[in-house]
Amino acid sequence: MVLKDPMQETRKRDHIELTNKAQTGRPEVDSRFYYEPMQSAHPNSQTDISTTFLGKKISAPFWISSMTGGVGEARIINQNLARVCREFSLGMGLGSCRTLLESDEYFNDFNLRPILGADLPFFANLGIAQVEKLVHSNNINKIFDMVDRLDADGLIIHVNPLQEWFQPEGDKFEFSPIETIAKLCEKKPDHKYKIIVKEVGQGMGPKSLKSLLELPIDAIELASFGGTNFSKLELMRSQGASIVEIEALSRVGHTSLEMISILNNLLKANPKFMEKQIIISGGIENFLDGYYLQELLDFSSVIGQAKNFLNRAENYSELKAFTAAQIEGLKMARAFLTVKPQNNASLTPEVQ
Ligand SMILES: Cc1cc2nc3c(=O)[nH]c(=O)nc-3n(C[C@H](O)[C@H](O)[C@H](O)COP(=O)(O)O)c2cc1C
Repeated sequence: MVLKDPMQETRKRDHIELTNKAQTGRPEVDSRFYYEPMQSAHPNSQTDISTTFLGKKISAPFWISSMTGGVGEARIINQNLARVCREFSLGMGLGSCRTLLESDEYFNDFNLRPILGADLPFFANLGIAQVEKLVHSNNINKIFDMVDRLDADGLIIHVNPLQEWFQPEGDKFEFSPIETIAKLCEKKPDHKYKIIVKEVGQGMGPKSLKSLLELPIDAIELASFGGTNFSKLELMRSQGASIVEIEALSRVGHTSLEMISILNNLLKANPKFMEKQIIISGGIENFLDGYYLQELLDFSSVIGQAKNFLNRAENYSELKAFTAAQIEGLKMARAFLTVKPQNNASLTPEVQ
């Protein structure tokens, strides 16, 4: 029996018309992977890519990195981000909650636990400058009061000396961030509060990573060089002749790939570091970058993105479609792609 395919004619016509537009050319090949079409069935609704992040189960290893907050129009963005996390069972970090240390005027912008529900990872966020002030003036309770009011699982601390330096109204640190974070861990009232430490788009080098791994914190977010970069952003906000002279400093930093290699070496030297989890972020363009980097990293990890979620956050159906594509794309990558041994891989500039 011959089964009639009703779409056959349109499809054939489309194929002919689109052939010229569908040329890839050799440079477009993504040579990070071996493509193995023989080895797997298609993923389906039963395909499980769930994982656990800091004790809570998420349906896929994706993370919405800390953004915005503190201004009225951020509320809809934050609420949509929380809604998509809830719909797909993912985790998220808030943007800086500094304003909540002073008053609850903007509390509703940050109050996302009721949307997320109790079971998903949800973190408050402060800059190291605020943490420094509170830790060294014995006001640490203000931090954890805020975490409690938000019903968050803990605190993300962003460590951003370059951003603060470039920022016209930026703070200067009186203590080294590692000293402040060590003190915070020491004085933390309860083990229930988890601590994540991150940069904001510059990444960090081996001494910083090692010193963080040695502290009783729970996770590190790379926030590497290669994506949204707050030094660059503050430079654009600044004016004045001195900018040209200092601009070179905005280009230092570490890509995710470099940080992953540093982390793997640190882990080889001290297998106890394996307890920590890593959020791979900074310039992750899509699930393929995430898959590639996760496969290379020897720690348990999730894939964080900020800009990509932000760009769709005001339109929920776009945000939802983007998130679904990340999840389905990662399932396909896991089914049909393996990462080439590092030396042979030709890396795309986005993740180099
Ligand atoms: C609009 C915006 C606001 C951000 N605000 C914060 C913040 O308050 N705290 C923080 O730790 N990181 C903040 N970040 C940095 C991101 O969490 C992330 O580290 C960085 O953007 C790199 O990710 P991306 O390349 O996917 O954008 C912000 C990023 C964006 C785009």
